Amino acid sequence: MMGLKKLLLVSLLAVLEARVAAGSHHGRSMPGSPYNISRNDRGLQQVVLAATYSFNNQSNDAFLFKPAAVHKAQRQVVKGVRYIVDLEISRTVCRKRDNNTLSDCDFQPEGHLHQTFQCHFEVWMIPWKNETKTLVFLCKP
Ligand SMILES: *[C@@H]1O[C@H](CO)[C@@H](O)[C@H](O)[C@H]1NC(C)=O
Ligand SMILES: *[C@@H]1O[C@H](CO)[C@@H](O)[C@H](O)[C@H]1NC(C)=O
Ligand SMILES: *[C@@H]1O[C@H](CO)[C@@H](O)[C@H](O)[C@H]1NC(C)=O
Ligand SMILES: *[C@@H]1O[C@H](CO)[C@@H](O)[C@H](O)[C@H]1NC(C)=O
Repeated sequence: MMGLKKLLLVSLLAVLEARVAAGSHHGRSMPGSPYNISRNDRGLQQVVLAATYSFNNQSNDAFLFKPAAVHKAQRQVVKGVRYIVDLEISRTVCRKRDNNTLSDCDFQPEGHLHQTFQCHFEVWMIPWKNETKTLVFLCKP
């Protein structure tokens, strides 16, 4: 009995591996692998905004930063939805203490206050638990 189960499992794994290999061979995405999404994706816009708030909350900067460009945006369905994003975030002219609405804030003009960070972040949303986890959030100048 055990022997048969093991054999079935082994052949099932072999089939899965073959499918994964075939999928990558043809360059097509398999269910469960990350795929590129539009910059207009609603979920993407939400996670980008949340990441921006989190960046501003954690930075000691006197000014607010806002997204300048999205270089990569991927979505992956794994027990919920994972977003994988490469984002450029730049300093605006709005001071944090002035309590401005971020969308009204212009970027700093070229000059010593102009600064951009390259950020990579991954968030995992589990809708049925109403939970969003930040898995990675790295920014560098
Ligand atoms: C901002 O960060 C502090 C701690 O660093 C945290 O207690 C607070 O909840 C955060 N606020 C928001 C809006 O994320
Ligand atoms: C996905 O997007 C990245 C970055 O924009 C690009 O380099 C890559 O070729 C895209 N992949 C596919 C399969 O379109
Ligand atoms: C910030 O602005 C919001 C909405 O414009 C307002 O409700 C809030 O009281 C303001 N907070 C401070 C500290 O001025
Ligand atoms: C999920 O969380 C949001 C904000 O934290 C809350 O407003 C909403 O009622 C929650 N929904 C459920 C189903 O728990």
